Amino acid sequence: MSDAIRFEDQVVIVTGAGGGLGRAHALLFARHGARVVVNDLGGSTHGEGANASAADKVVEEIRAFGGTAVANHDSVTDGDKIVQTALDTFGRIDVLVNNAGILRDKSFHKMEDADWDLVYKVHVEGAYKTTRAAWPHLREQNFGRVIFTSSTSGIYGNFGQSNYGMAKLGLYGLTRTLAIEGRKNNILINAIAPTGATRMTEGLIPPQVFEQLKPELVSPLVVYLGSAACQDTGGLYEVGGGWIGKVRWERSLGVGFDPRAGFSPDDVAAQWQRICDFDGAAHPADNVEALKEMMANLQQYAL
Ligand code: NAI
Repeated sequence: MSDAIRFEDQVVIVTGAGGGLGRAHALLFARHGARVVVNDLGGSTHGEGANASAADKVVEEIRAFGGTAVANHDSVTDGDKIVQTALDTFGRIDVLVNNAGILRDKSFHKMEDADWDLVYKVHVEGAYKTTRAAWPHLREQNFGRVIFTSSTSGIYGNFGQSNYGMAKLGLYGLTRTLAIEGRKNNILINAIAPTGATRMTEGLIPPQVFEQLKPELVSPLVVYLGSAACQDTGGLYEVGGGWIGKVRWERSLGVGFDPRAGFSPDDVAAQWQRICDFDGAAHPADNVEALKEMMANLQQYAL
């Protein structure tokens, strides 16, 4: 194992680290010298119940190889308490991995408010609360790394996961804006869309593939994104099974109509193929770049 990336003076919070991907992240951060807050409420995949032993066991594992860790058993919806555990125990917070998550899969016509709300609460509100509580400390020390856990179900959609997809792509929206707001204080924000063999995906992935999708194969990216070595922000990375790739928005060059003369739905229909043509597509990096073609169109027809 390369030792260039180290966290000796740093404190890392991993939420939902009592099992699955979060556990693997926590263990790898600890192996790289970080002091780790292992947060986990210890409930079911559906977000029911609580059990302190999930986080406690991972803390024991870390201590067993000489690492430093403390458990926290709060829900991420009480994210301030998780950050307080880091401050009370280790006096600081440098890296936050928002990983805790649940599933309440249902096709949309069967979706109930409780399923929608709880998925939103754990993934989005939980990540917000924890990150919001860490933010002033990261700003003050002019260093921070925050990782959000998105999903291909958010990026591409997936049957039965309207609530989950909404939450997971919401986290990418949060990533994009926090990357802009955090940059001047050296707080870099990235998101991952992982695939790993955990209790969440058991039964959903064929057994032969499942065995190979070890959670440990996601963690090297997360530890890299959490390190000072990473200078990228606002990124979204798909990762799993030993493979990592970056995702970005792509937009067609579009079609400009005369804004003064107006245009009809038939005009839109007539240009549909060109509107949807990705040949030579643009990859706007920010709002200003995104608005360029629209502004150019206004200018072209300006008096
Ligand atoms: P997992 O169920 O093994 O781990 C999630 C952990 O979060 C559990 O230990 C659970 O107790 C904890 N947790 C749930 N609600 C919590 C709360 N309110 N407060 C604190 N802890 C809470 O599942 P897995 O697969 O490790 O998931 C980790 C993250 O990765 C989740 O955000 C999930 O949505 C995401 N993800 C996983 C994928 C996969 O292929 N395993 C695919 C895409 C995203």
